[in-house]
Amino acid sequence: MHFHRTLLILSFFMAHVNVQSQVKMDVKTANEKLYRPAFHFTPKQGWMNDPNGMVYLNGQYHLFFQHYPDGTVWGPMHWGHATSSDLVQWKEQPIALYPDSIGMIFSGSAVLDKNNTSGLGRGGIAPLVAIFTQHYMPGEKAGRTDFQNQSIAYSLDEGKTWTKYAGNPVLKTPNIKDFRDPKVIWHEPTQKWIMNLAVADHIEFYSSPNLINWRKESEIGKNLFAHGGVWECPDLLHINKNGKTIWVLLVSMNPGGPNGGSATQYIVGDFDGHAFKPYSTDIKWMDYGPDNYAGVTFSNVGERNILIGWMSNWNYANVVPTEKWRSAMTVPRELSLIVQPSYKNGKINLNSDDIFLVSNPVKELNAKFIKTMSKENFVIENTYSLSTEKNPIPKRIDLKAALPNDFEIVFSNNFNEKLIIGYDTAKKQYYIDRSKAGISNFNEGFAAVAVAPKFRLRSELYMYLSIILDKTSVELFVDGGRTVMTVLFFPTHPFTNCVLQSKTYLGLRSLNLYN
Ligand code: FRU
Repeated sequence: MHFHRTLLILSFFMAHVNVQSQVKMDVKTANEKLYRPAFHFTPKQGWMNDPNGMVYLNGQYHLFFQHYPDGTVWGPMHWGHATSSDLVQWKEQPIALYPDSIGMIFSGSAVLDKNNTSGLGRGGIAPLVAIFTQHYMPGEKAGRTDFQNQSIAYSLDEGKTWTKYAGNPVLKTPNIKDFRDPKVIWHEPTQKWIMNLAVADHIEFYSSPNLINWRKESEIGKNLFAHGGVWECPDLLHINKNGKTIWVLLVSMNPGGPNGGSATQYIVGDFDGHAFKPYSTDIKWMDYGPDNYAGVTFSNVGERNILIGWMSNWNYANVVPTEKWRSAMTVPRELSLIVQPSYKNGKINLNSDDIFLVSNPVKELNAKFIKTMSKENFVIENTYSLSTEKNPIPKRIDLKAALPNDFEIVFSNNFNEKLIIGYDTAKKQYYIDRSKAGISNFNEGFAAVAVAPKFRLRSELYMYLSIILDKTSVELFVDGGRTVMTVLFFPTHPFTNCVLQSKTYLGLRSLNLYN
């Protein structure tokens, strides 16, 4: 009798546990379905931040990333790893680098050491060499200043397995606590490796013949450009424009971004292997939205400059409402330059050009989308639906408009949630309003409108706009990529409706929708 009662209680309890775990499972699956992006890279599980060590080799793009596999908040950093043959479809690989006695594995880069300058190659195999910061947490906790140092590791099997260099760290901190995120490039004219490193409020350049011995060349940035927060994750790249090599320095900064928290600024200039000379001290942002940070470019891709950023913001990255994983990467973007003569008092100013770094989705992404609608030369008055029964929400919208009046593109659901992308002619600003786009109570500043300037070129008659929409992100590329905004949002139900609206009218030369 007694025994039976125990059994009964036990089976009741078990059933209860089952129901509970079923409910939990359903919530998990629902969260997964609602928020896991369809075509942006996310780790299977656990935490992710910055892209690291992006390098191309033998038909594969390698994306390493800041990763804490055992939790969904920032923790002891590893380098996760994913590969892709087309920059779109990523396959997660085993973890590449684990923390060790020197420290956690913070951000950094990877290069193919073609000529085996490091001597780490074997049997004719050129090594992939990763250069990264090691962060020694006990040192930080003890209030020391020497806890960030640069180490290297190498791989002889195309990034599958890595061996840490026995003489790590290869570049010790001069006792500055923010001393991190080495991005290494090969500088052809001087035949040297160049490392750019974020050092609190400036960038330092180091050179090396072999990736092991580093010598400081110069620094730039103290009291110049934007300084709302600590400088992190630099990149130095060059773009050939009209027969000239122009250098671009990317500097991520947190906080102090144009729409709060983290953002990436860019500086255009010359680099001679020793020092970087900016053409101007204007402050320019690669992406005005709140959710593109720590972006850097791939190594070993020839003349192309392909950037991927971390699609989040330190203001709320740890608390966004995803459950199994946290954070996604942006779509890969091709970087190039637009040069236009600047004007002074109505005359061309021969002493300076306006140079814009422009970002556009890589062409590889086109294969991801199928055109569902295409229309030319028409005028929109009031409201025009971009939803069809079969494809309620386009994944991509490309439009070419005559220089526009105010207009908005609105994604919405039947639960009073909407995401608005618009242009305000009076303010000459683009905006993305996520204030009513879903869950936002996890962070005070999340429900906000992000704004960005329109940079109109003198000869320009049209506005080009491209929107890429995934389940929790929108990426806006306007005016050839001069203004870019990346914005996250978390609707409680998927958006099911999309309209283009204007209080006056909007003349469209073309409108293309994709799914
Ligand atoms: C940027 C950053 C880097 C650092 C890494 C740590 O988001 O703070 O400066 O190396 O993240 O995860």
